[in-house]
Amino acid sequence: MRNVLVSGGSRGLGLASVLRLADSGYRVIALARAPSDALRAAMESRPERIVFTACDLADTAAIGPRVGEVRKTYGPLYGLVNNAGLGTGGLLSMMRDTDIEMLLRVNTLAPLVLTKHVLRSMMSAGAGRIVNMSSIVATHGAKGLCAYAATKAALEGLTRSLAREVGPLGITVNAVAPGFVDTTLTEALGEAARERIVRRSALRRMAEPADIAQAVDYLLSDAARNITGVTLTVDAGNTA
Ligand SMILES: NC(=O)c1ccc[n+]([C@@H]2O[C@H](COP(=O)([O-])OP(=O)(O)OC[C@H]3O[C@@H](n4cnc5c(N)ncnc54)[C@H](OP(=O)(O)O)[C@@H]3O)[C@@H](O)[C@H]2O)c1
Repeated sequence: MRNVLVSGGSRGLGLASVLRLADSGYRVIALARAPSDALRAAMESRPERIVFTACDLADTAAIGPRVGEVRKTYGPLYGLVNNAGLGTGGLLSMMRDTDIEMLLRVNTLAPLVLTKHVLRSMMSAGAGRIVNMSSIVATHGAKGLCAYAATKAALEGLTRSLAREVGPLGITVNAVAPGFVDTTLTEALGEAARERIVRRSALRRMAEPADIAQAVDYLLSDAARNITGVTLTVDAGNTA
């Protein structure tokens, strides 16, 4: 059974990906600070397929040892989904430095460090799949999301360069860029903003967590073996 580590697998897009990947036949290791009730229920219904590992990604020194323990317990990792992220918004001129630092730490530094450690397992296997969870705001301006957008643009830069670095070793690296999806991260979005997003989307709706999970599943699959260094946008045509 191929192992896939999904950071932020306790809820939202990460949990949707965990469920989808488990149904596709992977053993999924969901990483977060704590398991949610929904993840616990998923683990109970698929005990062989879904497991949990606790890690606070803000503590980057803890990431290497955690990956080591995961490998020791479950064996080599075939896939990594760098999905965990914070969505802290605010006008840049008003943001606290500590909030900016935490965004960069969890959304950019942690995926870099996590990828570095997981890559070693993939390199020795000569195969692997990495999917980074970006956002449409990496490439499209959004007032109030400067720091967040910077973290996601960094992930897309990482995606392209790492694809070149590890392609010769049989490892693919891609990103998924969701539009706005209803999760805890976007719960502050008001009804008017939601309606505006729907109105501006070609398909007149918002993407759902399952849509993002299917894109992740595809990029991890053998069907995507010749796709690397790309960002797949899943936004119901919001940026079309
Ligand atoms: N929802 C959207 O509209 C949208 C759009 C574009 C991109 N995205 C991206 O998609 C990803 C998932 O977003 P979401 O909407 O599913 O968010 P969410 O519902 O808030 O879930 C975030 C996940 O990240 C984990 N996490 C947060 N801080 C962590 C930390 N310090 N250490 C370990 N895990 C941590 C959370 O678990 P714990 O809190 O238990 O640790 C949770 O599992 C993010 O990267 C986000 O930027 C979301």
